[in-house]
Amino acid sequence: MSDSVRRVAVCPGSFDPVTLGHLDIIGRASKLFDKVIVLVSTNLAKNPSFTLKERLLMIEAVTSQYQNVIIDILDGELLANYVRRVGAIAIVKGLRAVSDFEYEFQMALANKKLYPAAETVFLTTAAENMYLSSSVVKQIASLGGDISSFVSPEILPLIQERLGRQQSQ
Ligand code: PNS
Repeated sequence: MSDSVRRVAVCPGSFDPVTLGHLDIIGRASKLFDKVIVLVSTNLAKNPSFTLKERLLMIEAVTSQYQNVIIDILDGELLANYVRRVGAIAIVKGLRAVSDFEYEFQMALANKKLYPAAETVFLTTAAENMYLSSSVVKQIASLGGDISSFVSPEILPLIQERLGRQQSQ
């Protein structure tokens, strides 16, 4: 690793699809670390609407302004092993509310056990994104609601096309 890329963080998630809440966390992480790898990952508990490749392409389309952010896919591998392999020092996650905490805390402890050299760093979400999640976006889109204030304009057509009706209002 070159001297200019010393502090690498991995920002994992389903990103199904990436929301403005995710982008806020990615942008803030890019200021804290030399390099941020946004890692599109399989969450075995979820049934995705977009393929891993589609999710990667959507994130690529909305993060081009960040010079130190790259996107990768994690498929069939433990996050902890990936973090070790790329030499990252941190796993960055966004925390919205207390309801996120138990689940995130459990994952952070498991990852720490699997790879003790990396820390999980939680960034508190911006107040305006407290309620925002990929599943909320998907529900609204599938019922024909307006999701234009929840996702970036570049990826709006794909989401609308995939999740059902075009907006009625
Ligand atoms: O956005 P999500 O769905 O809350 O992200 C969860 C994710 C994808 C980060 C988590 O399921 C994960 O790390 N998956 C990769 C496989 C893995 O290492 N699982 C054990 C985590 S303790």
